[in-house]
Amino acid sequence: MSTHRRYLEVQFHTYFPGGEPEGYVEAPGRVNLIGEHIDYHGLPVLPVAINKKIRIAFRTRTDSRICVRNDSNRFEPRDFDWTTELTSLAPGDWGNYLLAAANAIGARCGVLQGIDALVMGDIPVAGGLSSSSALITAFTLALLRANRIHASFEVLMEILPEGEQFVGTRGGGMDHAAALAGRRGCALEISWNPLQIRHIQIPEGWSFLAAPSLKAAEKSAALREKYNSRRTAGERALAKVGFPSYAELFAKHTAKEIVRMTIPDGAERRSFTHVVGEANRVRTAVDAMEKNNLHAFANAMNESHASLRDNLQVSCPEMDHLVECARRAGAPGARLTGAGFGGHAVILANSEDMPYIRQRLIGSFYPGKKNFDPDLHLLDVKADNGALED
Ligand code: GLA
Repeated sequence: MSTHRRYLEVQFHTYFPGGEPEGYVEAPGRVNLIGEHIDYHGLPVLPVAINKKIRIAFRTRTDSRICVRNDSNRFEPRDFDWTTELTSLAPGDWGNYLLAAANAIGARCGVLQGIDALVMGDIPVAGGLSSSSALITAFTLALLRANRIHASFEVLMEILPEGEQFVGTRGGGMDHAAALAGRRGCALEISWNPLQIRHIQIPEGWSFLAAPSLKAAEKSAALREKYNSRRTAGERALAKVGFPSYAELFAKHTAKEIVRMTIPDGAERRSFTHVVGEANRVRTAVDAMEKNNLHAFANAMNESHASLRDNLQVSCPEMDHLVECARRAGAPGARLTGAGFGGHAVILANSEDMPYIRQRLIGSFYPGKKNFDPDLHLLDVKADNGALED
């Protein structure tokens, strides 16, 4: 039994006296290597699940009440009656993800038995590493398992991305797919319609580092509308060129023809340029990973960052500076990962060069940054198993 699980089970008695936890689930966060802001347009992406997770110990109740405690005092207890008419709490409240899970299952299976649950997590919060999707994924699994319902990957993928929209962010399914189907040592090429996962071995000698920009990226709160507006701009652009989906656009036209399509200048044109360019970069990156061509992969990452900064405009000065420092420190590739507006950068280098790059980055980007602890906050990305792989 893992030490985390043991710890949670011992703590459980403090929060819920009398009775043992009956079940345990965990779901990882993710670092997206490339393919940003295109999952919700149905285009392939390439994340890894990481060894930072949301972990939940739970026991089934005899009624339909849901009582949740968090072992961090940053997150207050959240208790509610499970009904089919749940309403959300204030934007940014962690309870919204618990409600979202109950709401999504309720819509599909009706109201079931509730749970007492103790949650613990070590995924940085508001860091673009998908702590929120890991929470909704883990909590959904806890509710289902407490009610002895087995759901396949495909069924969970019908429930989760849609379910998270309860929180108000119109994201795609990348984070949930990674949280469920990640595999140790592998990146996941995720394609949609039909949903398919291809595990790609990360070549030996490649190292990825996730480094915080130290700017919070809380996409369920103030950033919600900014995030959603990028999606709608991309959808409007697609309508202007007369296609129902980006997949069909790519099926009918070459990359060159697509680049020449006319959309008036503005947010729609810039979104379109990002989406079609990023889709091409994912293809290049997958090919580079399979051929063990680190420099080609790194170039695609660098181009991705430039497009997120200039076309989609989801970066920020702190992130641009961090990416710049990583490259000056000698990293062949660096880009923002996740929704943007802050959060983490993902940095690629040869494993033997990474310790030196790390040191130089600490000396260039982080001096004077209060509360920054390199041992705690610079994360070696170790591709790990998802919730269904363990
Ligand atoms: C968030 C969303 C994902 C994806 C990324 C950007 O993490 O949850 O679905 O859109 O942003 O690539």
